[in-house]
Amino acid sequence: MVKTLVTAALPYANGSIHLGHMVEYIQADAYVRFLRSTGENVIFICADDTHGSPIEINARKQGISPEELIRRYYDEHRKDFADFLVSFDNYYTTNSPENKKFSDFFFLKLKEKGHIVQKDVELTYCSKCARFLPDRYVKGRCPKCSAPDQYGDVCEKCHSAYRTTDLIEPYCAVCGSKPARRSSRHYFFRLADFSGRLEQWLKSNGLLQDEARNSVLDWVEKGLEDWDITRDGPYFGFLIPGETDKYYYVWLDAPIGYISSTENLTHDAAAYWQGKDSRIVHFIGKDIIYFHYLFWPAMLMGVDYNLPTAIRTHGFLTVSGEKMSKSRGTFITAREYLNQQEAEFLRFYFAANLGKSMADIDLDFDDFRNKVNSELVDNLANFVYRVLSFANNNMDSRLGTPAAEKKLTADLEAKFQEAREHYSSYNLREAVRTILEISSMGNQYFQEKKPWQLIRQDRKKAVAAVTYAANIVRNLSILIAPVLPRFAERVQKQMLLESPGFADLGFSMKNTQMGKARIIFSRIEGQILKARTFPLALKVGRILSAEEHPSGDKLYVLQVDLGGEQRQLVAGLRPYYRKEELVGTHIVVVANLKPAVIRGVASQGMLLAGDDGRGPVLLEPVGAKAGDLVSAEGFTTASDEISIDEFGRLGLSVQNRRPVFEGVPLRTEKGEVLCKVPDGARVK
Ligand code: 2FM
Ligand code: ZN
Repeated sequence: MVKTLVTAALPYANGSIHLGHMVEYIQADAYVRFLRSTGENVIFICADDTHGSPIEINARKQGISPEELIRRYYDEHRKDFADFLVSFDNYYTTNSPENKKFSDFFFLKLKEKGHIVQKDVELTYCSKCARFLPDRYVKGRCPKCSAPDQYGDVCEKCHSAYRTTDLIEPYCAVCGSKPARRSSRHYFFRLADFSGRLEQWLKSNGLLQDEARNSVLDWVEKGLEDWDITRDGPYFGFLIPGETDKYYYVWLDAPIGYISSTENLTHDAAAYWQGKDSRIVHFIGKDIIYFHYLFWPAMLMGVDYNLPTAIRTHGFLTVSGEKMSKSRGTFITAREYLNQQEAEFLRFYFAANLGKSMADIDLDFDDFRNKVNSELVDNLANFVYRVLSFANNNMDSRLGTPAAEKKLTADLEAKFQEAREHYSSYNLREAVRTILEISSMGNQYFQEKKPWQLIRQDRKKAVAAVTYAANIVRNLSILIAPVLPRFAERVQKQMLLESPGFADLGFSMKNTQMGKARIIFSRIEGQILKARTFPLALKVGRILSAEEHPSGDKLYVLQVDLGGEQRQLVAGLRPYYRKEELVGTHIVVVANLKPAVIRGVASQGMLLAGDDGRGPVLLEPVGAKAGDLVSAEGFTTASDEISIDEFGRLGLSVQNRRPVFEGVPLRTEKGEVLCKVPDGARVK
């Protein structure tokens, strides 16, 4: 029997799972549950993606080891997925012995076959931090358009891509000092060796989406460049064999994580990755097409492993039509959602929106409420309850023989088949639509038969009609189970059924006893997720100049660039900071504080610092530029003017070297805000 292996992309062990991630895990999970229900031999594989510079640097900043950091996220991720009913057969980690073994196998094999070569590269090196600087840790002016404060890989203003060494006036995003160039010997994977085979595979694989296929073919035709698979230490990853301070680039060992997670589960990865009767299906987002349609298949070709049978690529999630944003409070973590709303409502909503294309899907809260209320609750869940509670109340919960509804049965069976085909062709949206049609047909049937009248005139006929309707309910529970597994299980429990699968679809249920009907879902009234408000408009400012206050001997008068706006602030920093230390520094400013006149000098805002009684220590927005917003994740930011007393009552404090508001760390869109004072210090 054919074995199917389904994967979803491995999330980085460097942050929480958010609703954007959930699109894919829900999509893949529904597909896997469908296959299981049809009796296929399938395993669902995933893992945390644990390597790379950001993980190494973040752990260092938090004063913990990378192992500790990834362990914390591992537990959190697993819990989030379990609570969203994502049924992985194995959720592993790429920092595993199996993954080291397979990574070395790939590397050595590709090298032996001449697909890996060594070349010297010029890189950006910070001697103060004693490290090569990855893309996101060096900033400077864009070499094309001169925009200031751009990262080392692409310019956010003009979108051109370049190397870190191309930046004009580069500076280290960690320590701010000017980096140098340094050369290092790296290993490169010669992708071009596989151009011909890649092209052939891309053209002949019918289970790739055309949108992705065509853009990838375009790249292949333009000529593939060698891919740098080395990173210099300090790095969190696997050491390259024969090297002392060079590691595999995270994107080399991440997809190999699919194989090692398979090995960890089955102890026979070869059966899937080399065997004849296997299918490999990857679910990914459109941001990682390049890795899965080019690098990964080329790596697999190089070691003679099986290529992906299908790659299903979805678009991004937008919230109310816009990119998720921390400052707008539309960045919703899995946990924030789960704390307030049914996991299956989101599963239903995403499934109902996930077609075959790579189009983005939007989470619109009004649409969410309407869909859940009218389709899931009013149509599907109410039909179930209507039928079962009728049997409870009028038939002693006992079914008879279903009515012989020849025409309707044929129509419904055609719909079952249709839903099945939609599931197997990765079209969840159409599968859900078809299932809802079946439910509507069931409702209509029940309505037309009027069993509440019929039962008094012709009991036998009424029982037959209700039994027929109960068969529809049973079929619905089977059909919707991949999307709503817990709902389906509850329905089946109420009907005293033992988890039926797709093979059990039909109208054969008769003379059986039902259990007690219970309402499973009720309509959503009010808000989907309560908006929580963070009442500070915080912005990153860059201190342009500092002067002594004419009369306050502890005060400076600072001119601060807030990105397109300059403000004057009066701050009591003179006993603690020298002027030279302040100028050029990035700080966090309360931009909506009521302006004040302090000893005769106007102050338009306030800068934030942590203080444990030994004097203020400025907040450090890591990697941010003037004008960036600072916010509390999950909160909507209000910008109404706030008084100094109101500010005091907010109780901002420092936890874990971070300023926090109601337990949530403040951060910019791009990075963290640090404050190097002990826990419990107040922020003011
Ligand atoms: O983009 C990401 O989030 C990566 N961590 C996905 C890795 S998928 C696979 F290749 F490992
Ligand atoms: Zn540095």
